[in-house]
Amino acid sequence: MGWYLRSNPDYFAREKGETAVTDATPRLEVQHISRRFGGRAVVDDVSLKVMPGQVTCLLGPSGCGKSTTLRIIAGVDMQDEGKIFVDGQLVCDTVHRVPPEGRSVGLMFQDFALFPHLTVADNVAFGLKGSKAEKRARVEELLTRVDLLRFIDEYPHQLSGGEQQRVALARALAPRPGIMLMDEPFSGLDDRLRDDIRDETLSVLKEEGTAVLLVTHEPEEAMRMADEIALMRDGRIVQQGAPYNIYNAPVDRAAAGFFSDINVIRGEVHDLFTKTPFGQFMTPAMPDGAEVDIIIRPQHLKIEFDRNGNGPSPTPENGVPARAYVERARFMGSESLIEFRMDFDGSILKATVPGVFLPQPNTPMWLMIRRERCFVFPAKDPAVAGA
Ligand SMILES: Nc1ncnc2c1ncn2[C@@H]1O[C@H](COP(=O)(O)OP(=O)(O)OP(=O)(O)O)[C@@H](O)[C@H]1O
Ligand SMILES: [Mg+2]
Repeated sequence: MGWYLRSNPDYFAREKGETAVTDATPRLEVQHISRRFGGRAVVDDVSLKVMPGQVTCLLGPSGCGKSTTLRIIAGVDMQDEGKIFVDGQLVCDTVHRVPPEGRSVGLMFQDFALFPHLTVADNVAFGLKGSKAEKRARVEELLTRVDLLRFIDEYPHQLSGGEQQRVALARALAPRPGIMLMDEPFSGLDDRLRDDIRDETLSVLKEEGTAVLLVTHEPEEAMRMADEIALMRDGRIVQQGAPYNIYNAPVDRAAAGFFSDINVIRGEVHDLFTKTPFGQFMTPAMPDGAEVDIIIRPQHLKIEFDRNGNGPSPTPENGVPARAYVERARFMGSESLIEFRMDFDGSILKATVPGVFLPQPNTPMWLMIRRERCFVFPAKDPAVAGA
């Protein structure tokens, strides 16, 4: 067992502090967790909380340390620094640890592997304790909830991929874990099925009051599932909050760009303002001469028609129109994507509009930047290589 230290009741009693569990006690709390491999901090001072019945998504690009964080919480890897609490009780610091089976944690990974030689019922009952009748009752309850009771005596190979996934969910939920750790559990499914299974899974977990920490590298999945998103980059959590806030108030250019395509207009600050072909932007927090990036998502560009070589009049909300020519337009299903070649420097800006809008290439148009929808960041963003 090596570094696998068994729990020591006296030690935990001393360290755990507050013992009464109140409504404000997080089901899971991680404090300042770090993990180094070969001198590199793969997880770097990560802190987060998950309340009962809440879903927190750990979202970030491949290799940023999401799975490592989850493995530490599950107890199959150990942090170099930091503490983990379940219901306010310390379960792990760098000296002592409660083993994985003592943490009330359920696991669901992409590779969920049911036991092929066991029936659906026996798969779900696998981690259960109690009498045969009690186990059967719990298995039937869960299979009813995931709408698979009719398959109770079948074997995994007789089920579709999505059905197997739901059996895996029932199996993970069977022992009533207070916390469910999920590592990209839906990535093996095709798109339509995935949406349904995500939604079903979410409602089952909410009904059970489970605290969920879900790892994903897909922003759409995080937006769909999460009450709270923790955005991770290079081992650190760079921003944490409700999906709406993370999307609409990103901390930096990379955070903005993680959720959608972005348009970037570079400018330089003079006397609190930055002049661009789209008019002036107020940049009061930046010193004179500083380079700034003005960022706008494609759905927030305002497209105006050309009127005999003129655009609309400037307004304080939308600034000055800049002339552009349609490079190409594509129909994307629920929206159309139009790429514009800008008259002022030949650069390409992308705009999306709901429904069908497919202007011919080289059609002259005018673009405006809605001031309340743009983000302004210093151009020297340390998070963006080569910025
Ligand atoms: N046991 C280990 N020894 C050395 N390096 C490791 C070990 N485990 C993970 N790493 C490294 O830590 C980094 C983070 O890995 P991790 O699996 O946590 O990333 P992730 O965010 O889950 O990525 P993905 O989205 O691709 O699954 C990677 O660069 C990985 O190579
Ligand atoms: Mg991973």
